[in-house]
Amino acid sequence: MALLTVTYAKGRGGATTTALGVAVAAPAQLRPVLVEADPSGGDLMRWHRLAARPSVVDLAAAGRGHEPGGAVFAGVVQQLPLGGGLFEVVVGPAGGAQTRAALPELTRRPLVNPPDRLVVADCGRLEPWSPVRPLLAASDAVLVLTRARADELAHLREHLADLLDLTVGRLAVVLMPGGTYQAAEVADVLARHMVENLGRNPEPLLVTGPLPHDRRAAGVLAGELAAGRRWRRLPLLAALGRLMGELAPLLLTAPESGVGTGTEVSR
Ligand SMILES: Nc1ncnc2c1ncn2[C@@H]1O[C@H](COP(=O)(O)OP(=O)(O)OP(=O)(O)O)[C@@H](O)[C@H]1O
Ligand SMILES: [Mg+2]
Repeated sequence: MALLTVTYAKGRGGATTTALGVAVAAPAQLRPVLVEADPSGGDLMRWHRLAARPSVVDLAAAGRGHEPGGAVFAGVVQQLPLGGGLFEVVVGPAGGAQTRAALPELTRRPLVNPPDRLVVADCGRLEPWSPVRPLLAASDAVLVLTRARADELAHLREHLADLLDLTVGRLAVVLMPGGTYQAAEVADVLARHMVENLGRNPEPLLVTGPLPHDRRAAGVLAGELAAGRRWRRLPLLAALGRLMGELAPLLLTAPESGVGTGTEVSR
């Protein structure tokens, strides 16, 4: 179906919170599964007191020799309980060494593109030498998170040529809370950078957000706060649901996919 990756260039970007939120906000019929592919190690195990195994190490092993079309995730997902629902995740061990070793295997198909579900991968912080680059290249959509502030945008500009080459038309810049510029201004700055400094045509680049600063939703996703009855309507989850709609053209277009319906699906 589709692979959606989440990364950031500077600071502590909010990748795990956003990736889990996207998986939670995605329509249930996409059968979203969150994979912690952050080469500096995962957080979900600690946040939600999940087991150390199975993990991305087992996912990599399951991908070896797996026949296309099979249920590659069966046996390697864990159920993350949140607000009365269960969400499927593949945890990354803390520390990152095991994830870095597993990452080359994670780019195999059908592992990154199982026929029947949406994979959301938390790729952590982007570095030029990062082992997640092949995963970004294999993605249907890459979300790069940034605050719309001069310092963070300067870092994003440094990565932009590489990101555009890796993702060709599949890159979306998602503004995080706490910036000073609007999405249209950021889009303008990046388009000018492409033309004036990179000598490229301004490529179609979705710039969206900012996502709301929502401590409650972030706390629920991090396992720190109990989810209230209407937790799925919290501003961050509502915004991520709308983001899924914006990404629909990149992810899938089949009407039965449910992407882009903008409706909340209860599990
Ligand atoms: N939209 C948001 N509103 C409020 N707080 C947020 C939001 N997104 C993330 N946060 C908070 O920001 C902090 C960093 O988020 P998170 O752990 O998701 O970042 P990360 O990019 O995964 O960091 P790391 O690279 O260390 O794994 C957390 O305390 C999280 O709760
Ligand atoms: Mg993280």
